[in-house]
Amino acid sequence: LILLNPGPVTLSERVKNALSKPDLCHREIEFFQLQNNIREKLLKIYNLDPHKYASILLTGSGTSAMEAMISSLIPTDGKLLVIENGVYGERLSKIAKIHGLNYLPFHLQWGEEIDLHCVEICLRNHQDITHLAVVHHETTTGRLNHLAPISHLCKRYNIKLLVDGVSSFGAEDLDFENWNILACAATANKCLHSIPGTSFVIVEREALKVNLTPRTLYLDLLTYCAKQDNNATPFTQSVQSFYALEEALSELEEEGGYIARKNKYQSLMNYVRNQLINLGIKPLLSQEDSSIVLNSFYLPEGITYNQLHDYLKANGFIIYAGQGELAKTIFRISIMGDIFLQDLDKLIDLFKQLIYQ
Ligand SMILES: Cc1ncc(COP(=O)(O)O)c(C=O)c1O
Repeated sequence: LILLNPGPVTLSERVKNALSKPDLCHREIEFFQLQNNIREKLLKIYNLDPHKYASILLTGSGTSAMEAMISSLIPTDGKLLVIENGVYGERLSKIAKIHGLNYLPFHLQWGEEIDLHCVEICLRNHQDITHLAVVHHETTTGRLNHLAPISHLCKRYNIKLLVDGVSSFGAEDLDFENWNILACAATANKCLHSIPGTSFVIVEREALKVNLTPRTLYLDLLTYCAKQDNNATPFTQSVQSFYALEEALSELEEEGGYIARKNKYQSLMNYVRNQLINLGIKPLLSQEDSSIVLNSFYLPEGITYNQLHDYLKANGFIIYAGQGELAKTIFRISIMGDIFLQDLDKLIDLFKQLIYQ
């Protein structure tokens, strides 16, 4: 099966093979070398200075990285503005609520563009806001929330920017320095093409000097970072997932880094998008508003999601449904993973067969 859902992704043979490397105790030097390698490689993707930034590795899915970021980095007297325009923005708010943070949701419809003028009015009306959290690529719809203008606003109002980069890290541009990104939560099993099990947060080291009594034991980034900086780990990590991630990161490097991956995604996504448009299938969002990772499309006339899904699955492809109310009207296609143009040709043929049969 070829996975066109937004992670877990179709793995390359070498990443799969890395899963059967030798058994390893997570308290041995070989494990710490592996941990150090991964931490370095993650920073290298966006050319980040290890003195200024740290990558902190967690065993958990993308949500664990979101929760670690939100619960660990906002000081007791801080206030968080959360921009919501999809499931994951709303999840950031839920996390803030559960951890008892002082936060304000900036709620938009799923897929709606962020109106910066309104965000600015909100910031002016709530001068106690210290941090802003936003999802970079809202996988709910495929909308890419453009971070550059948001970051300008944050700079002007002296607000620290937290990013959910779970479905963009490793493929979309993330200009940590110029956009003043304080922290970015991400995961191994999306644009980095590894398995689920390891997630991580890239943080500015300054952010770890936060004035805060820990809100969480297991997800406290300060604890993880202090240990990981000193050849240690606070808890058992998923060793095999580390093996796979190290291999996936080597593969990314050898292929030309995130720019090469971005170009590959861009050409694959343009191809699927244009081919589907030629078949009369309409995208949910314009190309400028869409990520290169995943696009949403309206279901073809007279075909339900289940019919489409089951037909494609029977022929070797997994696509993804819309979430919530969108489940009735859209389907989603992601091109993350070890996917090639010939796979997409086959997919388009299947769409033709289904539509014209
Ligand atoms: C943008 C974004 N944030 C967070 C998550 C949550 O990740 P997980 O399901 O791995 O916990 C996802 C998952 O698809 C996502 O796309």
